[in-house]
Amino acid sequence: MSRVLSPAVRTTQLLSAMSLSDKLALLSGVDPHAALGVADGPLYVGYVPGNPSLCIPALTLNDGPAGVADLQVGTTAFPAPIAQAATWNMRLEHKFGQALGMEAWNKGINVVLAPDVNIARVPENGRNFEAFGEDPFLSGQTAVAAIDGIQQNAVIATVKHYAVNSQETNRYYVSSNLDDRTLHEIYLPPFAAAVAQAKVGAVMCAYGFVNGVASCQEPNLLKTVLRTELGFRGVVMSDWGSTWSTVDGANSGLDLEMPGGRFFAAPLADAVSAGMVKTSTIDAMARSILMPMFRLGLFDDPPPPLSAVSLTDVSTPADKQLALEIAEQGTVLLKNDSSALPLRLRAGDSVAVIGAPAGFGDIRPYIGGGGSSFVISATPVTPLDAITARAAKAGATVVSANGIDPVAAAQAAGTATVAVVFVYDQEREGEDRPNLDLPAGQDQLVEQVAQANPNTIVVLDTGGPVLMPWLDQVPGVLEAWYPGQRDGDAIAAILFGDAEPSGRLPQTFPSSDTAVPASTMDQWPGTRLAQDAAFSEGIDVGYRWYDANKVAPLFPFGFGLSYTSFAYSHLRIARARANVTVSFIVTNTGARAGSDVPQVYVDDPRAAGEPPKQLQGFEKVFLRPRWSKRVTVALTPPSFSYWDSTARRWRMAPGLYRILVGASSRDIRLRGFLRQPGP
Ligand code: BGC
Repeated sequence: MSRVLSPAVRTTQLLSAMSLSDKLALLSGVDPHAALGVADGPLYVGYVPGNPSLCIPALTLNDGPAGVADLQVGTTAFPAPIAQAATWNMRLEHKFGQALGMEAWNKGINVVLAPDVNIARVPENGRNFEAFGEDPFLSGQTAVAAIDGIQQNAVIATVKHYAVNSQETNRYYVSSNLDDRTLHEIYLPPFAAAVAQAKVGAVMCAYGFVNGVASCQEPNLLKTVLRTELGFRGVVMSDWGSTWSTVDGANSGLDLEMPGGRFFAAPLADAVSAGMVKTSTIDAMARSILMPMFRLGLFDDPPPPLSAVSLTDVSTPADKQLALEIAEQGTVLLKNDSSALPLRLRAGDSVAVIGAPAGFGDIRPYIGGGGSSFVISATPVTPLDAITARAAKAGATVVSANGIDPVAAAQAAGTATVAVVFVYDQEREGEDRPNLDLPAGQDQLVEQVAQANPNTIVVLDTGGPVLMPWLDQVPGVLEAWYPGQRDGDAIAAILFGDAEPSGRLPQTFPSSDTAVPASTMDQWPGTRLAQDAAFSEGIDVGYRWYDANKVAPLFPFGFGLSYTSFAYSHLRIARARANVTVSFIVTNTGARAGSDVPQVYVDDPRAAGEPPKQLQGFEKVFLRPRWSKRVTVALTPPSFSYWDSTARRWRMAPGLYRILVGASSRDIRLRGFLRQPGP
């Protein structure tokens, strides 16, 4: 077939050559091991056989959000998505997408099951690490960058999990009960951005229910919203085992059952024979699959066969470098009293390196979160090794303690010039954290180390917010998230000042378990044995709730310190028809080069019923000492709109809007006004 014809025409031509059973075969995955005659070992996590007589390639599917996963070897373990979002660097995220897509293709994979854009509604969510935080705009922009990069290869990206899949407790059955406005303003925008701005090829519908209906057979979500409102033209696949029925699934807008074989395949053929599912529906489902396959080059540019590449190392030096850069740029400096960091060690000084994630025992939990996104890395660099090497350059030595015995750890710390304590949480798919405490007695560990050595730096290897009862006792805290395989290199470079921590929080860190938007059992994990989660906080998710309720967080959304300092000035707001340009000058007022992330928030007129401020733009800027740059952020009508549930459309409230430019959601430095005439 011709490459000159459009994907739509090629799809139509192919469909006309296909029998009903050819089409049905496309709509359900099969067990890859059986299909390919491979007993075990690294393989695709999903497989839809090709049709050689029609030249249809097989779909070979693999996770995921932190690199090519599912037991594949020789792929790069990138930092967790929460760290990717914390970079606020969309050019870097785009490179990540390119590298992920390229590694996948080189491993014989043509569908990548990433990114995950579920909004961080509760900080205890077990998959918090796997998505981009609490803000719809930041999540959407990060997803767009990743998808755009992935799909520059002949690979389909899959935005997931559609929709409102924001907790792991009872994840197969919990119903997220929310109103239409909250759905549209908080939970759908990242999907909308993925469809409109990145033309994502696949959407994965979620485990769980929305307002009592299973996500993978919810016609309002799958048809009205996804197809009609958002204009999605690609394939809707189920999450693994989230198909609930044959007839309702097919008729509600699900195209592909994964891993397959239960409801679609033979039962779907029977349903067609019985007249319960129309052949035109089967045509539409097959079209949804074939269209992105043509559009993204899966027919023209097939990846190598698995047998040829299963043991190939596809992690290039550039990919490894990228993993390092993301880890560095995603690390957030939360506290730095008296410039405790970067360390200034001299010959004869010593560093106490303490705690399990520094490199004692099993490193698995700390470089990536648990579950389908976990990437095996052959060569993770431990903080202990990297700090030892870097300290040696300064003529300093390292003492270490695994932290299991706080007394031994305190002894090691007491002898050292400075102590660096690594602490962790263990987020994993399938279960939420019980609370926000560091597990395994680590708060006592930090306290005892800090008592033994007041010059203690805490490094958090966590997938999300934790409480820090010891915060006042330590001068320095870094949030390094799950940093991927360049873990040690990144943290050593930051501690010693060879690199700067330029991350900003993509998520609010609460001051207690209860000072959070979803603080009742009804909200999370839900009533009736977690069958129903009431999203009664509505659109007040994340910083929106803290602002609306005037609750002080431990660390606010958008926050992150720097090794230098920045000033903002000269705000200008200009209008060109419906679009608005906000610009201002950022100056590096310190003595070191550094990066900043000025953030533009919009405060709508009260009549719109919106929270006090919402992120609508940002840019990461790198500046030499004393240099300035004018940063320009474009705002469009959606930046000033709310969802009118009655009219089922976006609407702009007339009135005065405040434009806020800040270094975080709680550090607004410039304010301007803009009058909007309304619709
Ligand atoms: C996860 C998905 C993943 C799939 C395949 C499911 O359990 O929810 O995110 O892509 O497994 O591994």
